[in-house]
Parts: sequence; C-alpha cells; structure tokens
Amino acid sequence: SALKLDLEEKLFGQHLATEVILKALAGFRNNKNPKKPLSLSLHGWAGTGKNFVSQIVTEHLHSKGLKSNFVHLFVSTLHFPHETKIKLYQDQLQKWIRGNVTACASSVFIFDEMDKLHPGLIDAIKPFLDYYEQIDGVSYRKAIFIFLRSARGAGGLWHSGLIDKNLIDYYIPFLPLEYRHVKMCVRAEMKARGMTVDEDVVTRVAEEMTFFPKDEKIYSDKGCKTVQSRLDFH
Ligand SMILES: *[C@@H]1O[C@H](CO)[C@@H](O)[C@H](O)[C@H]1NC(C)=O
Repeated sequence: SALKLDLEEKLFGQHLATEVILKALAGFRNNKNPKKPLSLSLHGWAGTGKNFVSQIVTEHLHSKGLKSNFVHLFVSTLHFPHETKIKLYQDQLQKWIRGNVTACASSVFIFDEMDKLHPGLIDAIKPFLDYYEQIDGVSYRKAIFIFLRSARGAGGLWHSGLIDKNLIDYYIPFLPLEYRHVKMCVRAEMKARGMTVDEDVVTRVAEEMTFFPKDEKIYSDKGCKTVQSRLDFH
C-alpha cells in the first residue's frame, strides 16, 4: 500500500502501468513459491516515467533503492559499449547475476536501454529468467528483472527470443504524456523543492515544452524529462 500511495502521488498519466505493476509485485511477493523470477518489461516514450518507476519500486523492495547492494542497474551504452567485447560482457554479466543472487535471493536487476542491448547479452540473461528450480545450486526464482525500453524507433518487440518462451511476465506500456500531465509534474517538482505552487510558473514551464502532433499539440515530446531544468530557469 505504501508503493501504491507513492505511485499515485508521484507518477502522472500512467494508470495502466501503475495498476499492472502493483498487481505484478503484490502477486509475486505474496507467492511463497514462485516458479520463476519476476520479469517486467517497461516500454514507452522518453520522459514518461520508466526509470522513475523502477527507482520507486526498488526503494520499496530494498530501502536504499538504487544504492542498495541488492539492486543492480545496467545501462547498455554505459556498461556494454563495445561490440567486440560481447563475449567478455556475457561472461561478466552471468557471473554478476549468479554472484549477486547467491548473496541475496531477492536481488533486483534493472536493464536500461534494452533497445540498445546486444542480442548476445539478451541471450546471456535468458537462462536466469526461465522456470528452472535451480542452476548449479542457485535458485533465481525470487529475483526480479526489470527491462526498460524506449519506444522511439518504430516499435517492434525487441528480441523475439525472450518473447517466444514467455520469459517476460508483464509487458507494461507507458503512454505519452499530455499537457495537463506535464503541469502535474511541474507542481510536484515545486512541492518537492518546498516551493509554493505558482500557477503562472507552472503554465510557463508547460508551455515551453514541445508537443506532437505538430498541429494538435496533444502529447509532450519529452514527457516530463526537462521539467526540472526548465523550472530552475524560471
Ligand atoms: C554484483 O553485481 C555488481 C554489478 O552490479 C558486480 O560489480 C559485483 O561483482 C557482483 N557481485 C558478485 C558477488 O558477483
């Protein structure tokens, strides 16, 4: 219920995602004997809250959140930048997942920029997502894997291999944000900074964002992504 409250207060325009994430996590954590680790795929436009949600979720699973020793964030372009080193990355990643789950069964692994992750690394992760009781004496069934994927670049599901075998439990779409959602983000940011909410500033920040389609101006191009720096400016 604390997670529910947090998501309802801090995440805007994503009712579907909120509902699915809450159900998925509650179901998984209440199951004493899960048959596989929980795997969530969060996909949608930039700035719609995918990273933000995974941060909130991990804080409720391990109180130090991303700083916890039991939460691991991998960013494709940062951790696995060179195609020539894929073999090394594969070995490393498997060793890390094994080592960390051995130390803490309910470790959380977040993979950001899935759309940029080499297929060879997806293959390296796959065995851990499967229904094995254990692999070499280690059970991965209590672990949680969260995959983040940006929707720009014509959709298409990233790597059919993971889907074929139904290794992803939930595909969670993040919807583009509307003008009113951007305003909500600005108000929330002002409150978080201990400022009183000034509707003039809220409007000015929101009006500076760019929206699409060009004529109707319905959805924010960058979601709420640049709200913080724009607020600094105003
Ligand atoms: C756990 O994962 C981190 C990367 O997030 C890695 O540096 C560390 O060596 C891993 N720990 C073990 C015991 O494998």
